[in-house]
Amino acid sequence: MDLSFHPVHQAIGAEVKGLDMSQPLGTASAKELRKAWVHYKVLVVHNQPISDAQHVAFSQNFGDLEVHHQSIIRDGALPEIFKVSNVDENDKIRSPSDSTMAQLLTTKIWHTDSSFRVNPALGSILHGVEVVDEGGETCFTNMEAVLEAMPADLLSRIEGRSCRHDFEHLSRIAATRKPTAEEMAVMPPVWQPMIRVHPVTGVKSLYISPIYNDAIEGLDEAETKEILDSLFELASEGRFVYEHKWDKDDIVMWDNRATMHRIYPYDPHKRRVMHRTTVVGDGPVVAA
Ligand code: OGA
Ligand code: MN
Repeated sequence: MDLSFHPVHQAIGAEVKGLDMSQPLGTASAKELRKAWVHYKVLVVHNQPISDAQHVAFSQNFGDLEVHHQSIIRDGALPEIFKVSNVDENDKIRSPSDSTMAQLLTTKIWHTDSSFRVNPALGSILHGVEVVDEGGETCFTNMEAVLEAMPADLLSRIEGRSCRHDFEHLSRIAATRKPTAEEMAVMPPVWQPMIRVHPVTGVKSLYISPIYNDAIEGLDEAETKEILDSLFELASEGRFVYEHKWDKDDIVMWDNRATMHRIYPYDPHKRRVMHRTTVVGDGPVVAA
């Protein structure tokens, strides 16, 4: 394939042209794409009306795929597909108070995927199957640039510290769904360094995931909250953030090791169906 890459924002993201995800990628193109994925952190590909099976096959070029520990999120037929969807198994739009919906709506808060795992996700590949015409944009922030721009006083408060990532924190935020005892047993909280190095480039970045973070090592609750609030305020500045406005059959793939993402609100009465694959990480997070 004759691939080319076109930046979509000054700090993060590029559009890929010349890619057809319904076709086998080939070793040379897979290598080129992997390199660009790390470099740009977010890759956008338009007009890819692929099946779930093609989505999974494409994703497997980059490693093994995660199977979500919650059955409510997994697709029944293809367990590597996560359904980020406001439509239930009977093809009905979920009510915003439905507990699965409440959990999915937490994606409006900054996060990086699977940071609650000892070996967090390397990357995620999201297919816009049914998109909304207003709102529902997905925003991506460059955590290497955020770290580089961080004021010295804030930096000195987090340097050398770890932060707790607990899947159960989602249910506290969503305030409806409690994880089952089984879910809790397979996903105990983990402590991750707040400043990490990228395993491929060695570049340092801020590593937090606010939907899962409920504690910073050695600090009380008030100070934890104050620091996390300052960090996401900085991470939200437009100079670091690309906002992706979805067209049907867009694919967006992001590097979870150097980014966070969140979605903008949308009318919950409109169908929004997104299918995601998640590439298993390359090992535990390495502290800077
Ligand atoms: C995700 C996610 C963003 C979206 O799939 O990890 O956070 O646009 N979704 O639905
Ligand atoms: Mn996510």
